Amino acid sequence: MTEHIHHDLTLSTGFKTPIHIERYFIVDEHTDCSLYPDHIAKHNPHIIGDATNYLFVSEALRSAITYSGNSVSIVSETETHAIVRSEAGKNWHDFVMEMLNANLFGIENLALIPGTIGAAPVQNIGAYGKEVADNIISVHCLSIATGEKYVFSKEDCQFSYRNSKFKRHQFSNILITHVDFILSKIQYPIANYPDVERYFTEKGIVNPSSHDIAEAIIAIRRNKLPDPLTIGNAGSFFKNPVVSIDVYQALLQEYPLLPSYHVDDHTVKIPAGWLIDKSGLKGYRYKGAGVHDKQALVLVNSHNASGKDIYELSLLIQQQILERFGIMLETEVNILL
Ligand code: EPU
Repeated sequence: MTEHIHHDLTLSTGFKTPIHIERYFIVDEHTDCSLYPDHIAKHNPHIIGDATNYLFVSEALRSAITYSGNSVSIVSETETHAIVRSEAGKNWHDFVMEMLNANLFGIENLALIPGTIGAAPVQNIGAYGKEVADNIISVHCLSIATGEKYVFSKEDCQFSYRNSKFKRHQFSNILITHVDFILSKIQYPIANYPDVERYFTEKGIVNPSSHDIAEAIIAIRRNKLPDPLTIGNAGSFFKNPVVSIDVYQALLQEYPLLPSYHVDDHTVKIPAGWLIDKSGLKGYRYKGAGVHDKQALVLVNSHNASGKDIYELSLLIQQQILERFGIMLETEVNILL
């Protein structure tokens, strides 16, 4: 275990807003937390992964912890599938590309999502027709309060849209150390998301391979989403709200072009980016913060923003969307006040 006192994490975060951590623990698989039960527990650190999906509103945090191991191994394989275990500190996109290059398929639609393997199950990352839960077999964890180890099956994790049980308050002491994925040796490319379909039509590609999918998604994301290394951001700031069919029908009367995604017979998901865009807030600037001009669901650190600037902008957006559409947007980004 490494312990940093007075650690500046600003440049590692998605938003690149100032954040200073008084005590920062970095653990790996050789760390036996039961050796330090009181030491770690007494500081009650926040588990922050690589901090890419956090908005730090206050500029100081008492304590944080992250898991740093990043090895990858094959646990078992058959003719058609492999079970691959990755340590939680591995960069997600590097893992996707390494698997693709090893001809192990199934997660290519999730290329270029920022963050680590350990963060992926927490918010069940998803994009372009896939969610990581589709390929998770189990999640290995460590209690930073007691040092006990647990293995949760996919069912135990209770995955849903951008959610899992790791987001619950009772799991705030549970550090993910490894994730087991099931990947296919056979390609089943998923190319039916509108942006992806459009990309292949424009390129004249009829039967894209999984490699083509990754290439398409990298290009689409680079075009729409700002690179956090250049403009601080954490991808989608809000979740797409899931509303009842009645609410959806009422909105459709007023906005016949309202896009939507089918969820089930009773509910529909509406793109929050469309709601924000329709409210005239795309490209809007508030102090140092802004709404991205190519994707209104992304808030950016446009000019030396503080965490507070971005937070205040998010409250202003929530308020306007509530007033105009009667929908309260939930944040997708983790906010530490
Ligand atoms: N739209 C607008 N204006 C905008 C943004 C979007 O009208 O400024 C409309 C688009 O035209 C489209 C719809 O809203 O009809 C959906 O937009 P998009 O395809 O860009 O996807 P999204 O719903 O805004 C979600 C995920 C993204 C993921 C994409 C692609 C959430 C919260 N976000 O965004 O995930 O990459 O779909 O699958 O579910 C992330 O989680 O950080 C993230 C980037």
